[in-house]
Amino acid sequence: MNTVQWTDALLLEYEPMDTVHRGFVDLLARAQAAPDDELVNTWSAVVEHTTAHFKMEDDWMRRTRFPNADNHIVQHRVVLNVLREGTALARAADYASVREMAGELAVWFAKHTQSLDAALALHMRRVQPTKVNQASPAKDSGWRDAA
Ligand SMILES: [Fe+2]
Ligand SMILES: [Fe+2]
Repeated sequence: MNTVQWTDALLLEYEPMDTVHRGFVDLLARAQAAPDDELVNTWSAVVEHTTAHFKMEDDWMRRTRFPNADNHIVQHRVVLNVLREGTALARAADYASVREMAGELAVWFAKHTQSLDAALALHMRRVQPTKVNQASPAKDSGWRDAA
């Protein structure tokens, strides 16, 4: 099984997105490590968090007229439908199928983050910088202090 793990390769330098992605990795890791009798609850937590995560990104794309929104929003919808099927499988005690799905989700998440989400993060940094992201260029002038 592909076990999810946070790495800095997943960082997109857009703070609200990085925060939600860390939360996703934590919850998915918890579900992957859970014993069978905790799989319904831990998987449901992943689905609930992912629903909010995707809604946040979908809202950003719609509100800021992101050019590649349709494709990205469809991917979210398809994945969420699959994850909801996972909840039904967990309730039916088909734990092996849920664990397989969790491994596939971990692989999908890394690819999605580094492609579609990376493009969205770049766009959001331009159209709606956060305080953290606004502050980061100051690091570039640090050479003056170091001289
Ligand atoms: Fe995302
Ligand atoms: Fe996304």
